[in-house]
Amino acid sequence: MKIEKAAVIGAGAMGSGIAQVLSQAGIQVVLKDVKDEFVERGLSNIKRMYDSRVKREALTADEAERLFKNIKGTTSFEDIGSPDIVIEAALEEIEVKLEIFKELDKICPSHTLLATNTSALSVSEIASATKRADKVLGMHFFNPAQTMPLVEVIPGVETAKETVETAMALVKELGKEPVHVEECPGFLVNRVLFPYMNEALWALQEKKAGPAEIDAKVVEFGMPMGPLALFDMTGIDICAHVVNFLYEEYGPRFEPSPLLKVMVEEGFLGQKSGAGFFVHDKANPVKKGEAKPVNPELDRLIEKANKLAECGKAQRDFEAERVILPMFNEAVYALQEGVVKACDVDVAMKYGCGLKRGLLSLASDKGLADCLAQLESYHGDLGERFRPAWLMKKLVRAGVKDFSTSKKEAVCVN
Ligand SMILES: NC(=O)c1ccc[n+]([C@@H]2O[C@H](COP(=O)([O-])OP(=O)(O)OC[C@H]3O[C@@H](n4cnc5c(N)ncnc54)[C@H](O)[C@@H]3O)[C@@H](O)[C@H]2O)c1
Repeated sequence: MKIEKAAVIGAGAMGSGIAQVLSQAGIQVVLKDVKDEFVERGLSNIKRMYDSRVKREALTADEAERLFKNIKGTTSFEDIGSPDIVIEAALEEIEVKLEIFKELDKICPSHTLLATNTSALSVSEIASATKRADKVLGMHFFNPAQTMPLVEVIPGVETAKETVETAMALVKELGKEPVHVEECPGFLVNRVLFPYMNEALWALQEKKAGPAEIDAKVVEFGMPMGPLALFDMTGIDICAHVVNFLYEEYGPRFEPSPLLKVMVEEGFLGQKSGAGFFVHDKANPVKKGEAKPVNPELDRLIEKANKLAECGKAQRDFEAERVILPMFNEAVYALQEGVVKACDVDVAMKYGCGLKRGLLSLASDKGLADCLAQLESYHGDLGERFRPAWLMKKLVRAGVKDFSTSKKEAVCVN
């Protein structure tokens, strides 16, 4: 089915971005929120984005006006009409989403696909609110949706193959990269990224390196941004919520560093609160090339965190692998569960996190046997956060050196 008409539920940060991306592809969009002022705010954000594209000469004023007119705002479900797809980007609360999907199922024609942009809720549970679970799926856009190229496409238990195919084709038509991810907590990108972020905090607690050194070594290794700068940018409270959720779902591999709790309790939330691991003084922004000042309270916060839980000690000084290996290991756990194909892991991490090289390619450069040996050594020093995935052991025992050999197909499990 070719998507010509769409509706987006929720005109916040994600909903307005998704509506804009759809309108740019020439798709007619109805954008719904609960209050006129929220719809207006969403529409004016989209207008501002279009204006800035005109300013940058990426579009003419006429083109921008024509594309912007593809979007109509509303507060009423009745105005949605008969879309080919609805993408829901309302609040991240299961009751809100169940209510919305129940209503959409009632008012939309039988051919309409229903997608949710949930970050972490169960797609299958959301689908259970409808009588068309075969036509419900997750479409996880990244923030900002206008520019981030990746969309994780997540079928629920009952989603039909054609539904997934239509969503994958739509994502390509929007000029983005779709990756098919089976439903699991955190889907792929967040599941793989958060062991890396969390491990940077455990390393910080050991005090062998400060935040600037940790970030610099990791950037040198090939990450677009250090984990501590990323915490500050995303919001430490939001990250704490995600790590706690993943810990609940997956257990000890995701044991949250107590530093997260301490930072949130003391109101050091990152850029939005003026300080996190670094100081963010809007009145005195750091000039390009200058080092970001480290939060002067950090030593005290680390002492406090170290009283809450034993952080263990690595035998070696801080090296980028300390945080990269848990990320790689988690990707291999996802492979062994059949959540994703090996060939899609690199695409997801490159386009979802901006890795300069794919994660599996980085590990292949190092050699799988080396990665396993280093993980086992960290496992001995620091425990369960580093328990290697059995698939990695299996591949090393089979003599597979990297993921770029023909044997790669052996781990393309779905
Ligand atoms: N912000 C991110 O980085 C990000 C990234 C990926 C996915 N998500 C997910 O996208 C969804 C939206 O996130 P956001 O950051 O845009 O939130 P947001 O708070 O900016 O916007 C949510 C909007 O939904 C509206 N809304 C609430 N109930 C509604 C209803 N019944 N009908 C219509 N609109 C309703 C709210 O009024 C608000 O305008 C969430 O599920 C979130 O987890 C967010």
